[in-house]
Amino acid sequence: MLATLETAKLDLSMNVNGQAVRLWVSPFTTLLEVLREQLELTGTKYACGEGECGACSVLLDGRVVNSCLVLAAECAGCEVVTIEGLTTNGKLHPLQQAFVDHGAVQCGFCTPGMIMAAYALLAANPNPTEADVKRGLEGNLCRCTGYRKIIDAVLSMARGGRSDD
Ligand code: FES
Ligand code: FES
Repeated sequence: MLATLETAKLDLSMNVNGQAVRLWVSPFTTLLEVLREQLELTGTKYACGEGECGACSVLLDGRVVNSCLVLAAECAGCEVVTIEGLTTNGKLHPLQQAFVDHGAVQCGFCTPGMIMAAYALLAANPNPTEADVKRGLEGNLCRCTGYRKIIDAVLSMARGGRSDD
């Protein structure tokens, strides 16, 4: 029975970054694997694979999820947005630019997931306090920056995209 399940393929349709996609996936394939390996959207990172670091964060119907923990089969008919989906004609989204401007990117491995979490936070609460930002990003780990510059980048967007520091 298990062997049958492992080799079975499911017909999966969803929308990724505004594009309709149709794929064949195994029942155990994660959303992260689909994004990186089948759709070549490698901005979304694999790190812990256990829902602990947030490097794989994407939006699933507007909600931040750890894509390493979501089965692709659960995403049928859903809208997925990855870090690649924030750019327009190769131009960075203002939030991405804020990370650059504030020096909030060092090795960059956490950055896509961090930005997706911040994007969802700002969508839900366009004027967050520093405490709100810390709470909104608590599922995303960064080993490089010490978080200060990341928080400042997000707060600069809360102030209408202007930085006053
Ligand atoms: S790789 Fe998904 S939470 Fe760490
Ligand atoms: S910039 Fe390196 S882990 Fe965050």
